[in-house]
This record gives sequence, C-alpha cells and structure tokens, in this order.
Amino acid sequence: MFVDNSDTGLVIAGLRRYNVFTAVFFLGRHRRLLTELAAISRAAPGERALDIGCGPGKLVRALGAAVGGSGVAVGVDPSETAITDNRRRDRAANHRYERGPAQELPFADAEFDVVTCTFVMHHVPEQHRDAALAEMWRVLRPGGRVLLADAAPAPWMRRVFARRSGDPFAEVDIRRYAEQLRAVGFTDLDYTDSRYQTGILTAVKPEGSAPPDGSADVVGGLG
Ligand SMILES: C[S@@+](CC[C@H](N)C(=O)[O-])C[C@H]1O[C@@H](n2cnc3c(N)ncnc32)[C@H](O)[C@@H]1O
Repeated sequence: MFVDNSDTGLVIAGLRRYNVFTAVFFLGRHRRLLTELAAISRAAPGERALDIGCGPGKLVRALGAAVGGSGVAVGVDPSETAITDNRRRDRAANHRYERGPAQELPFADAEFDVVTCTFVMHHVPEQHRDAALAEMWRVLRPGGRVLLADAAPAPWMRRVFARRSGDPFAEVDIRRYAEQLRAVGFTDLDYTDSRYQTGILTAVKPEGSAPPDGSADVVGGLG
C-alpha cells in the first residue's frame, strides 16, 4: 500500500487497497468524516484550499465543494501514482493536483486561505516534520487556517489494534504537533475529537504575520 522512500516519506502506491482500508477503518463513514473536516477547516466559497498528502484526493473533492467554482482546491502528494490517478479521474475545473512533499511545497508564499493535512504527518520522516509545518505557514496567507488530523480511535478500537508494546495510536496523536505549531507562529489552537476515529487540530496564521524572510510586516509594512 505504501513505499518507504527514506528521505521523502512513506509514499502511497496502492490506492485501491488504501480505499478499502479507509472504508474498514472508518466503518463505512469516511464520507461523513470528510464533510466534518471540510466544515472544521472553514473553507468558504471563493477561497483557495490546499490538501497536503492528498492520496486518493477525497478531501480535495470535499474542499472543492466547499470553495465552489469561484475558489480552488489543490491536492499535493509526493506519489506519482496518486497525482496521475487524481488528474485522470477528477476533471473538475477548480481542482488541481501537484506532485511534491510537505517539506518542500511547490507553491508560492501566502498562496492559500486554508491548508489541510490529514493522516500524513506520521508519513513524513521525523527529520522533515518541522520543515513541513514551516511550509504550511509559508504557503498560508496571514489570517489563513491550518487543519491537521490523524487517527484517534475509540477505546474499543485501540484494544483491537493493541500490541504488546502498547497503544500504536499514541505516536500518531495529532496533539503532539501543538507546540511546534506555536513555535512556527500559529495561534488559536483548537482540538476536536471526532466521532469518526479522528483527532483534529486547527490553528490560525495571525493577521499581520511577517513574510518568511522576516523583512517587513505584511500589515502596515509600507506605512
Ligand atoms: C495515510 S495516507 C493519507 C491520505 C489522505 N490525506 C487521507 O486523509 O486519506 C498518507 C499520504 O501521505 C503521503 N505522503 C507520504 N510522505 C509525504 C510527504 N513527505 N509529504 C506529503 N505527503 C506525504 C502519502 O503518499 C499518502 O498519500
């Protein structure tokens, strides 16, 4: 299902197998989770939304519905298979798919209003995770929102997956990135425990944030 490319990440290869896996893991309610994620991201008509590590592109489609024809929904993933497949299947005029890793996004500064990244951070090599969060900050406009999510199963499901070494979901707990998000400059952190086996962490890039080179304030900088 995934290929371990040690420097890039754990990259998706078998899309069909992954879709079967998600259908089972989310007990047939993945679509409801996608609706919830799009709602919590607050993607609104006319906005530009980016989904990092988009895989089969389902959240891109949900974000595309939220931003509508006057907005844009973009999916990015290092997997050639995923990008080719999404481009072939999804011909919506306001959807785009690009190849690239979270730690080196192929987008301009402040290009997006919303960035999402779901079930991906644990696929990014540990040494690149700070860079990935910094890239989310860079491509968001001041006032933009970030949404990170990962598995947070109910206790009964944790028991089903439990190993001798303990709870395998502890290491993917999305709250572990809260401090790093604050260190990058994000504010207004909020955590939601979804009923669909998922933890959702949101934060805001404050209005007036300095551009990446720190040379001037975006708001009032020319004053
Ligand atoms: C578990 S899948 C999640 C797919 C999709 N986001 C979802 O919610 O179903 C993890 C995805 O992360 C991608 N990935 C792996 N390494 C990555 C990296 N360094 N940057 C961005 N995405 C990466 C994989 O190719 C795969 O599509």
